[in-house]
Amino acid sequence: MSLSFETLWSSIPVPALLIGPDDCIAEANPVAEAFLNMSARALRGVPVLDRLAIDAPLEEAFRRVRRDQAPMFINNVDVSGGNMAPVQCNVQIAPVTGEVGHMLVLMEPRQIADRLGQVLAVKKSARSAIGMAEMLAHEIKNPLAGISGAAQLLSMGLSHEDQEMTDLIVVECHRIVALLDQVEQFGNLRPPARAAVNIHDLLDRARKSAQVGFGANMAIHEQFDPSLPATFVDGDQMLQVFLNLLKNASEAADATGGTIRIRTFYDLGLRLRRSDGSGNALPLQVEIIDDGPGLPPEIAGDVFEPFVSGRDNGTGLGLALVSKIISDHDGYITVDSTPGKTVFRISLPVAPRSAADA
Ligand SMILES: Nc1ncnc2c1ncn2[C@@H]1O[C@H](COP(=O)(O)OP(=O)(O)O)[C@@H](O)[C@H]1O
Ligand SMILES: [Mg+2]
Repeated sequence: MSLSFETLWSSIPVPALLIGPDDCIAEANPVAEAFLNMSARALRGVPVLDRLAIDAPLEEAFRRVRRDQAPMFINNVDVSGGNMAPVQCNVQIAPVTGEVGHMLVLMEPRQIADRLGQVLAVKKSARSAIGMAEMLAHEIKNPLAGISGAAQLLSMGLSHEDQEMTDLIVVECHRIVALLDQVEQFGNLRPPARAAVNIHDLLDRARKSAQVGFGANMAIHEQFDPSLPATFVDGDQMLQVFLNLLKNASEAADATGGTIRIRTFYDLGLRLRRSDGSGNALPLQVEIIDDGPGLPPEIAGDVFEPFVSGRDNGTGLGLALVSKIISDHDGYITVDSTPGKTVFRISLPVAPRSAADA
């Protein structure tokens, strides 16, 4: 078989770019030319990050692909370039065998009809379901207070046996209120009031309150990089994030408990490119690592969606709130989970000097 590179290259049915060791575009296939609305000639030799805006930490991805010499898949990101509107793509980055530093980037635009499109539709309906649920939550809480108040009054004249029933009414009412409170948290989420914050203070507070409450049977270790500069976040909201993650890790462990590690470190490689071309560095890394059973495989891809829960009494709102808060902060959260090791990693910006001085 003697196929030429050109023939093969033009046959790839999705937009493909060949990236050189200098992160510049070495080749673009015809589909990529059409997709990016630019000729291969205009693309060649240009730093890929100047031509492509991908809403994912691309530099970090490149670094990992080169380091591990293994392909990487980034699903469901906005890709834009030139003057085209962002298109949702699944991006694959693969090392080129035998060509040190070269990589192949394939961008597969997502079809509305594909499975992922359905996920999008679910997302959208979940979003409107949240709005609806917020309204309902508000409306239900008042009569609920009436019901549990009436049950308490009723219980006064009752026998011990019958009181068990009124107690049950009160307890269940409380449970509903707790659920509604969680739903309302979404609606009440203000834009973050950001300030320079020592991330270790927040993590320490979260750990302490975990250990006197839901995490009492967990061993929680801190592994902090003391040289980390201040981050730029809303302290209350970020505390909520850490509490939710510690709570999930504690709930995932079996009755005998488990171990959680809270790790912080600096990693300059992570940078989020937005589709408008702007980018912000997210060098502060926080990892919450547990040794529990891992995410249930059937929901692993959707745990950040509202109402997705793998637990009997779960609301599925904990991680949805986490993800909302992190994205309101222009941060980034990922999860990497196998049985015995689940890592939630949050990447945050450094406080600008003006805020750090204040
Ligand atoms: N650390 C973890 N280990 C294993 N599974 C987890 C972990 N964190 C989250 N999950 C899974 O993700 C689901 C969604 O979490 P969350 O959004 O907080 O909702 P909830 O806790 O109410 O179920 C959980 O029900 C659980 O199945
Ligand atoms: Mg939870």
